[in-house]
Amino acid sequence: MKVKNIKSFIEFYRFLGVTNCISQKPRNKFALKKNKKFKEFKETSKIKENEMTVLSKLDELKKLKEEINILDCSLKEVATNVVLSDGDYNSRIMILGEAPGAKEDLLGKPFVGEAGQLLDKMLSFIGLSRKQLYITNIVFWRPPGNRTPNDKEISKCLLLTKKHIRIINPQLLIFVGSIAAKSLLNSKEGITKLRGQKHFYTDEDYNIRIPARAIFHPAYLMRNPIEKKRTWDDLIEIDEFIRKENIL
Ligand code: URA
Repeated sequence: MKVKNIKSFIEFYRFLGVTNCISQKPRNKFALKKNKKFKEFKETSKIKENEMTVLSKLDELKKLKEEINILDCSLKEVATNVVLSDGDYNSRIMILGEAPGAKEDLLGKPFVGEAGQLLDKMLSFIGLSRKQLYITNIVFWRPPGNRTPNDKEISKCLLLTKKHIRIINPQLLIFVGSIAAKSLLNSKEGITKLRGQKHFYTDEDYNIRIPARAIFHPAYLMRNPIEKKRTWDDLIEIDEFIRKENIL
């Protein structure tokens, strides 16, 4: 765990009311050093890869936005803005929430309201900042009164969301909340079953298979703070996976 993560770890446990913690396993410092070298090498290749794809990715995102603008979805009649994304489109980690809320609709950016602030805090516990990630929603417009998007609205947006994933081409997908997880994992299970498991998002038409994780939605955590502990476990597993696979 990095020093800044240890700080977040301690802050999080203080937040839960825990005052003592004991490490479960000894750490192999030599193995960490070896990984670091490998990571540096991978990072160099990442820069090259990103330099090569930067223009076409931007063009593809621009085209995607045009396609979204002409999508036949009734939600756009009542929304102020289309809400596409925030963060780094070259990130290898893509976060997908449900649909924009009131503040997101006004500002045209995902996760900028209260739930977004909690999401930022949760990610900061494992040393991730918004600038290192690519954040979006599976529905591009705010459903009136922040209601849950219905099946028709979700399926209208889903084809373009799948295209969005192909353009970003991440190595890890994090689904925030039940609606995003169920829709992209094509599952009928709720978030309580889907969280805490290792999944793959698949897009068979394009031979795509991407590791995926599901976490509780921050809005749900605000109403059910008892679930913060399980979310912490999920974030730790995600952090371990990111390190093991050298994703960042
Ligand atoms: N909830 C979401 O799922 N997405 C947002 O952008 C804001 C709140």
